[in-house]
Amino acid sequence: MKREKLQNINWDKLTFSITPARSMYIAHCELNGKWEEGKLIPYGDISLSPAAGVLNYGQGIFEGMKAYRSAKDRIVLFRPEKNAIRASTSAERVCIPKVPKEMFIDAIVKVVKDNIDYVPPRGKGSLYIRPVIWGTGPVLGVAPAPSYTFLIYVSPVGPYFKSGVKCLNLRITNQFHRAAPKGTGGHKVIGNYAASLFPQKLAKKTGFDEAIYLNASNEKFIEEVGSANLFAIKDKVLMTPSLDGSILPGVTRDSALMIARELLHMEVREKSIPIKDFLKADEVFCSGTAVVVTPVGKITTHNQSTKINNNKMGPITQKIREILLGIQREERDDPFDWIYPLT
Ligand code: COI
Repeated sequence: MKREKLQNINWDKLTFSITPARSMYIAHCELNGKWEEGKLIPYGDISLSPAAGVLNYGQGIFEGMKAYRSAKDRIVLFRPEKNAIRASTSAERVCIPKVPKEMFIDAIVKVVKDNIDYVPPRGKGSLYIRPVIWGTGPVLGVAPAPSYTFLIYVSPVGPYFKSGVKCLNLRITNQFHRAAPKGTGGHKVIGNYAASLFPQKLAKKTGFDEAIYLNASNEKFIEEVGSANLFAIKDKVLMTPSLDGSILPGVTRDSALMIARELLHMEVREKSIPIKDFLKADEVFCSGTAVVVTPVGKITTHNQSTKINNNKMGPITQKIREILLGIQREERDDPFDWIYPLT
């Protein structure tokens, strides 16, 4: 493969958007479930049958990960085995053959190493890694596609929200649900995100950063925002909705819980959180690979707004964020063995 030179990238102006990198990884599989050996190809468009399962029936899943340039002057991943496992459970839910964990991680390593010069300098951002697994064979009746593609592309990125780490202004929606009980909310299937676009558009049009979804069965409990998990802190207890099938098992969610429990010695509860308790929280934040830990400063429901911690990042949120970023950037010890060095 011809090796393209690094494009001119302004590392100081990175946002959460695509900057084309050098290469991407691709592998194929027939319905028999045996993945062929993958390879690196130049980053760019791919050709698909118009009858591809993913295009017609949304048979696809994805993951989100990041590679960092760390304080030890090496490139590291963060808990890649968690993404590999979640990719497998998501795939199973939509009848996509599972990619073995070793193959998944090996593919990530290959593509990051080939694009290593696209990992931003320390403190300027990270290399976002987007593995996707799609049904790409042609299918007309509603059925699993006859063949599949596992593809990984990467892009240098900056902060997810335009405001960076400023407090988010969120609105609880009673108009839409993200996930039905026993539906696909607990999996990273692509259709979940298509369904969140219109609520997100309405939230943005009315001056909010994102919508908060409620549980579909009775709209009494908070669930998540379209792109991240939610946490509330009250009287030093950290709470987040339990993984009851409609909540995405976020890697950052799990990491925030472990940091709070093991390093900050906080009480941690995974439970249903009623709206009224949520609005009385001392601190609220959302978590995700893309958003990291981002504080929430204002929440609106039925046109009534509540400020959280006077619209400022709270001390516990700040601590969890600092510890998480400190571990990810190897600026502090990694007591959980989360770091996966590549160089
Ligand atoms: C991530 O946090 O990586 C995600 O997958 C969220 C994404 C929809 C931006």
